[in-house]
Amino acid sequence: MALAAPALRRYLLLLAQEHLEFRLPEITSLLSLYGGQFSSEQEIRVNSPFWILSIPSEEMARGLMKRTVCAKSIFELWGHGRSAGELYACLKNYPMDKMLPYLQSDSTYKVHIHTFNKTLTQAQKIKKIDALEFLPFKGKVNLKNPEHIFWILEDYGMDPNNVPEEPFHLYFGRWIADGQRELIESYSVKKRHFIGNTSMDACLSFIMANHGRVKPNDVVYDPFVGTGGLLISSAHFGAYVCGADIDYNTIHGLGKASRKNQKWRGPDENIRANLRQYGLEKYYLDALVSDSSRPIWRKGMLFDAIITDPPYGIREATRRTGSQKETVKSAERSTDNHIFVSSSYHLSDIFFDLLKFAAEYLVMGGRLVYWLPIYRPEYTEEIIPRHPCLKLISNCEQMLSSHTSRRLITMEKVKEFKDQDQHSYLLDGQYMPYRGHNSFREKYFSGVTKRIAKEEKDNQK
Ligand SMILES: C[S@@+](CC[C@H](N)C(=O)[O-])C[C@H]1O[C@@H](n2cnc3c(N)ncnc32)[C@H](O)[C@@H]1O
Repeated sequence: MALAAPALRRYLLLLAQEHLEFRLPEITSLLSLYGGQFSSEQEIRVNSPFWILSIPSEEMARGLMKRTVCAKSIFELWGHGRSAGELYACLKNYPMDKMLPYLQSDSTYKVHIHTFNKTLTQAQKIKKIDALEFLPFKGKVNLKNPEHIFWILEDYGMDPNNVPEEPFHLYFGRWIADGQRELIESYSVKKRHFIGNTSMDACLSFIMANHGRVKPNDVVYDPFVGTGGLLISSAHFGAYVCGADIDYNTIHGLGKASRKNQKWRGPDENIRANLRQYGLEKYYLDALVSDSSRPIWRKGMLFDAIITDPPYGIREATRRTGSQKETVKSAERSTDNHIFVSSSYHLSDIFFDLLKFAAEYLVMGGRLVYWLPIYRPEYTEEIIPRHPCLKLISNCEQMLSSHTSRRLITMEKVKEFKDQDQHSYLLDGQYMPYRGHNSFREKYFSGVTKRIAKEEKDNQK
């Protein structure tokens, strides 16, 4: 006999209005990490700050909030409607046995009002709270330290120039937990010990770890590790982290500093010190000086997630070590036989190599999360690199300028890597679009971007 699926309960998620495209993959990935799946009775309005989720338990809701940086808070939803009347009717239908445990006479509570796209006066707020007197509140009001907090949430739409008198939608629920938005401040790059020109912003680093479904005791690898910004967020979630970078100075914390008013890196400016700054040193495995176009890992070595920001050639060079052959040919071999030539590393090759590496070195079900630079006028979904062992999970755009952006690509390993999978990405007739990645740098700097923007502006006149 098949087991009955657990009954789903309704929760209201209040989301931050930032990185909008990244929110759904974050929430979906995190729910799947806790054994749930994304399900909603309403059609999710991707840009709205309010989503109703149907999930099996409060425990799952709390788990989600321990990880999300995209959502601010979650509530047990008691009722909602398109007008105050509809909300009250819905609340009157909410089962009494689910309400009563939170309304007992020996408990304390408060009601909070949150409005989106409108500010209410204190008097308006009090009127709305008083209108809920039909609910059987028996406890004492305590504004400072209540046991239970109930929220009225009102949605006045997305248009700040056209705010309606009455909200489009109203919700009422019991607050359960806040998300991890404070990590954005406490891990801010501004206060970080060791930074570089391309250190990843804290919020996006946490989003990447969440898209990658990083979990405690995982081993996470960044093949373009730089200052280790992406290791920090994974280590915060309890994963053991390691990385590689072609740049000796970056790995050893030597050379020029990236901070204004500081010429050289200080004695302890390195990746380990960054992890130590946040009490995460115990999660640091190591970082190696290594060229990611020539993987050094033995067969059978497996990572739970690969989370990385490869070079796009804008603020850092795309390069790789020259081959022995090339080196000899150009007679640029140093006296101690060390290969010192670095040749340019085409963007398309960087992504091919990265996908092949992930296909080979990820555990089954493990995720690759990386940024792909995009020249927007030429973007089609076809140019997202593919690999037969990797399934595309999400693809979210972050604008860089009017004509350039980068896309956060998340892929999951769904098939064991076999030797014949080495080059199969070339077989599906999409080789040409991939070559397009190579010219990103030229287009970024060529002035094409500025010229198109000017033409568009002129056309609007
Ligand atoms: C965008 S940065 C990564 C920044 C990093 N996420 C951080 O938080 O500092 C890309 C890094 O890739 C490194 N890199 C470039 N070519 C490489 C190669 N062939 N193999 C390994 N690393 C390489 C660069 O030295 C640079 O540190």
